[in-house]
Amino acid sequence: MLASMASRVWICLFLFVFSQIAPSFASETDEAQSKEFVLTLDNSNFSDTVGKHDFVVVEFYAPWCGHCKKLAPEYEKAASALSSHDPPIILAKVDANEEKNKGLAGEFEIKGFPTLKILRNGGKNIQDYKGPRDAEGIVAYLKKQSGPASGEIKSVEDASALIDGSKIVVVGVFPEFSGEKYENFTAVAEKLRSEYEFGHTLDAKLLPRGESSVTGPVVRLFKPFDELLVDFKDFDTDALEEFVEEASTPVVTLFNKDPSNHPFVIKFFNSPNAKAMLFLNFSSGLVDAFKSKYRDVAEQYKGQGISFLLGDVEASQGAFQYFGLKDDQVPLIVIQTNDGLKYLKPNVEPEQISSWVKEYKVEGNVLPYRKSEPIPEVNDESVKVVVADSLHDMVFNSGKNVLLEFYAPWCGHCKKLAPILDEVAGSFQSDGDVIIAKIDATANDIPVDMFDVKGYPTLYFRSASGNLLQYDGDRTKEDIIDFIKKNKDKTTQQDQQDQQDLRKSEL
Ligand SMILES: *[C@@H]1O[C@H](CO)[C@@H](O)[C@H](O)[C@H]1NC(C)=O
Ligand SMILES: *[C@@H]1O[C@H](CO)[C@@H](O)[C@H](O)[C@H]1NC(C)=O
Ligand SMILES: *[C@@H]1O[C@H](CO)[C@@H](O)[C@H](O)[C@H]1NC(C)=O
Repeated sequence: MLASMASRVWICLFLFVFSQIAPSFASETDEAQSKEFVLTLDNSNFSDTVGKHDFVVVEFYAPWCGHCKKLAPEYEKAASALSSHDPPIILAKVDANEEKNKGLAGEFEIKGFPTLKILRNGGKNIQDYKGPRDAEGIVAYLKKQSGPASGEIKSVEDASALIDGSKIVVVGVFPEFSGEKYENFTAVAEKLRSEYEFGHTLDAKLLPRGESSVTGPVVRLFKPFDELLVDFKDFDTDALEEFVEEASTPVVTLFNKDPSNHPFVIKFFNSPNAKAMLFLNFSSGLVDAFKSKYRDVAEQYKGQGISFLLGDVEASQGAFQYFGLKDDQVPLIVIQTNDGLKYLKPNVEPEQISSWVKEYKVEGNVLPYRKSEPIPEVNDESVKVVVADSLHDMVFNSGKNVLLEFYAPWCGHCKKLAPILDEVAGSFQSDGDVIIAKIDATANDIPVDMFDVKGYPTLYFRSASGNLLQYDGDRTKEDIIDFIKKNKDKTTQQDQQDQQDLRKSEL
């Protein structure tokens, strides 16, 4: 359960990341077009439609999702451009928010929006779409995806067109295109084709640094960072797949405004490792001093469960907001673990990186950092304000029945709910055992092991005796009041004493 929550956190951060580097475009004019090339599918006709085609791309979206709205006109433009492609490339969409389509969304394990899947062979083979999100990029990526997984390299021109120094390219060198090694290579290429580019050749001399001594069978992976190319000779499919994943991960992932780094940033956030992120101002001239020291540390901890990213503050405003960081803390390192804890070293100097990471990783004596608004000095509205630093005192240790709203300042449904919560609070005014409270979930860290906050508003109720329930009834005054009355505990003096004793023993 923790892992899935953590991955949602990463997806969320990734969306911030994406919003920093995705091109922005107006959607008004495109939406006015009448002919739609993107097919609309739902649970009634999904299998039929997909079953009829060799190559279908399906976008799972939700109507409220901003990134989906940004994608829509680009996706439509791409569908139009691809409408006469041979062999056919079908672009489709499913509103995963609709009740009737939730089964489909579950089947495809959709965790965030938009998610795009490539379905081949009538839906028998499913892959994640890992391409760009602008029309031109989508078209180029899908044309490539609809062709063979690995293309033959017959000339130096073929080689330099494929290996252009900006992406991962995996090339198999074989004495002949047959046999088990070749077949295993092709199987891995099929499996990983949506993520990496593959090629195969009979002549290693066509490749960069392809000495004539290289006769194969060998797999050579080209990458735009670190040692630039790596050879591998184990043709076991699992070993080969693992090699490709491993060799294509930079020692230090670079995060700036350059979109060609984007795939590596996504990979970084999808990794199961703890994540160390060093944020600097790339235009301040400090970068070189930090880079080599940071890289040394990353090399040192390779294979030990930490991934390393170097980010430009200018591109990282989303991440800063997410982590509750401030520009005047730069240069800073933050390490986030998969159980949601954060460790922070603000105003770090190059010489301190190594010792601080060691203190965190080896000695384990860096204390986690928690983002919190200040505890308000006055808190006399009917709906009480809770912040991360007062969560324990006001919710867990208060001995009261607490209804807590997790909200975001920009959220429209939260604004609608606010007067209703005021009235609910009003109706319990004379009941000292009930507290109605709210916490700004964008400005305060929330313990992810207790609260599963996927959207706003989210309401939780904690009874005086410690029962924690999520409220998912209607957001009306009557229903909320009924729910509280039904679930609250009477807090007699004795009960409170017992609970406090119990809690002490828990701590
Ligand atoms: C699938 O069915 C929905 C209505 O249930 C319809 O709007 C849509 O056009 C159909 N799509 C195709 C490709 O037939
Ligand atoms: C091909 O991969 C399979 C595992 O999928 C492995 O058992 C076999 O030994 C591999 N063949 C060669 C020649 O490496
Ligand atoms: C980064 O440094 C440049 C040049 O010193 C400066 O103009 C810019 O405001 C800085 N950006 C941030 C976010 O501090």
